[in-house]
Amino acid sequence: MERKSKRNKEKRQKRKEENACQPTSEIVLYKANNQDDPMAHFSEFRIFEKNGINVKLECKRCGSLDVGTIHWIFDLEKRNMKALYEQCEWGWNDKIKKEEMTDDKAWYLIARTTEPECKPVAFSHFRFDMDYGDEVLYCYELQLEEEVRRKGLGKFMLQVLELIGFSAGMKKVILTVLKHNAEAKAFYTALKYTIDETSPEDNVLEQYSYEILSKVNKKLSSSSKVLI
Ligand SMILES: CC(C)(COP(=O)(O)OP(=O)(O)OC[C@H]1O[C@@H](n2cnc3c(N)ncnc32)[C@H](O)[C@@H]1OP(=O)(O)O)[C@@H](O)C(=O)NCCC(=O)NCCS
Repeated sequence: MERKSKRNKEKRQKRKEENACQPTSEIVLYKANNQDDPMAHFSEFRIFEKNGINVKLECKRCGSLDVGTIHWIFDLEKRNMKALYEQCEWGWNDKIKKEEMTDDKAWYLIARTTEPECKPVAFSHFRFDMDYGDEVLYCYELQLEEEVRRKGLGKFMLQVLELIGFSAGMKKVILTVLKHNAEAKAFYTALKYTIDETSPEDNVLEQYSYEILSKVNKKLSSSSKVLI
């Protein structure tokens, strides 16, 4: 009995020490959101040259993108997603979508061709945010022009998002996918994304047209270092 209570005391003390070493969520998010360039530590991942694609990645806050790029981002989003949104209760609304995509918290990972011209061909809108008590990198969008799909670029960009998120101390990379977007579902499954514990479950009263998928930062509690 005495040994047990001593062990519990030791455990409590250890947990207290561990918690004291963990920066609070606000600090983790503040640091993540106040980086100049979340790719600064991963310069070697800026270039993707494979399967006939030559692109360079950049990572910027929405506020520092030029008008032409913002226009292209919205146009690609609409071309890729409008019909899918309209097939469910979400529907499509230009104004609401534009507001979401240009929110102050929005970050963008953008791939631009290096040759023959600097043309944007893919983007991800993501945020460092709190989600059900966890610091997460929330991938709001991952959108590729049709001509660069199925060549490994989407996989590369999602892996770069994982690097950005996990090195900034995010507990998971999380995203929402429409259940009837079969191609996106196949893609996320191939990249080992699984149903998140916060994903709503269908029941007799309500059926959901989307699910929440995530990949957990397995190393966070052991040896991984927060780089910023
Ligand atoms: C979904 C999307 C981001 C995938 O990017 P991508 O560059 O085309 O995918 P990748 O080439 O990196 O594919 C990686 C793996 O995912 C799986 N995959 C990707 N697209 C697939 C598809 N259309 N059908 C089945 N499996 C697919 C495959 O296993 C693939 O590996 P393989 O090519 O060696 O077989 C891209 O197709 C896209 O922008 N689609 C339209 C917009 C969209 O739906 N975005 C997601 C919103 S949640």
